[in-house]
Amino acid sequence: MISVAIMGHGTVGSGVAEILTTHRHKLFTALGEELYIKYILDLREFPDSPLADRFTKSFEDIINDIEVSIVVEVMGGTNPAYDYVKRCLKQGKSVVTSNKELVAKYGAELLAIAKDTNANFLYEASVGGGIPIIRPLTQCLVANEVDEIAGILNGTTNFIFGKMINDNMDFDSALKLAQELGYAERNPEADIEGHDACRKICILASLAFGKHVYPESVYTEGITKITLEDVKYANELGYVIKLIGDVKKHSDGKLDICVCPMLISKDCILSDINDVFNGIMVKGDCTGDVVFYGKGAGKLPTASAVVADIVDCGKHLKTRKRVFWSDCDGSNIRSYKDSITAVYLRVEGDGEIASEVFPDSEIKTADGCTVLLTKEYTFGEIEEKLSALEADGVRVLQAIRIGNL
Ligand code: HSE
Repeated sequence: MISVAIMGHGTVGSGVAEILTTHRHKLFTALGEELYIKYILDLREFPDSPLADRFTKSFEDIINDIEVSIVVEVMGGTNPAYDYVKRCLKQGKSVVTSNKELVAKYGAELLAIAKDTNANFLYEASVGGGIPIIRPLTQCLVANEVDEIAGILNGTTNFIFGKMINDNMDFDSALKLAQELGYAERNPEADIEGHDACRKICILASLAFGKHVYPESVYTEGITKITLEDVKYANELGYVIKLIGDVKKHSDGKLDICVCPMLISKDCILSDINDVFNGIMVKGDCTGDVVFYGKGAGKLPTASAVVADIVDCGKHLKTRKRVFWSDCDGSNIRSYKDSITAVYLRVEGDGEIASEVFPDSEIKTADGCTVLLTKEYTFGEIEEKLSALEADGVRVLQAIRIGNL
């Protein structure tokens, strides 16, 4: 029997306890041993829970119990999660987490501690909810040099886009519904301002390219400035707008990485990822494009990935899994100004000056404004051209990257 402690009994934590209980026989068959929930750490009371006798408010119960070999961290945030996880790993207890903030901020350090103590630190649920992506990257695709990873990594914003476009729901109501359904972060700003997707692309980039990518070094834009008008014009031009996390390796070895809304051609498979679903495209040098698709948020999908890691830890109690990267100071990242992209522009008026500043653009006139799909430039050049337009008295109403995926 393997004793497990679960730290946190919120949306994901209660889902983990539920799956460990309801799928007990299935998991026993997979592991060859029983997984026993010995503790659930939460400051709240759950007197009606069938596991009411396992609840504790004290982390010390868990850290001091030598029978507990696997600790699940599903509290979210970094305080006290970082301290608790570090102490568990230092004691040689394996840790499974769904906490992307923790992994994106402290992954290199926590993985190094796990290496020292021969413990495992697994984080499949931190990216893509129920979609397998960490394990495929480290196992099934291990023979590849990864050229690029691009994905819809935030279920909440994708859900909001869908509700706005298909159900004519306003932004705030769609966000409220996403919160009610347990998709959104405790502070939904992390979803709509792109920070959640940023943490996830940082984890994927760190894993795929071997050096820690910190969220602060990633150009990040959210979806709050996207209007229904832009969604409509993009649609007429053969595109959809999605919040995309993208990382690719440049020929100089550095990474082009960003999170921002992008126009995606309707021919691209990511354009069909709707509702709370996530889609992650990995371009491998041997495989070509491989796409992972599934529910990127929610109680049981995310808990499913956590439980898979618990089973994996149970199978590797004495050996360490190589899901590892080293620390880095940001020198592995190119400036966002050097990234090359075409843009969708919407400017007030007839677009005459804009079409001179951005020659050879595809142009569409609309109600009182003009839409341009420009050629490719560095983002630095685009910023300069936009400033020049504003200086000429042209109001730029919107500028969105056009994804080349
Ligand atoms: N808030 C996140 C999302 C939850 O909407 O994708 C899963 O990480």
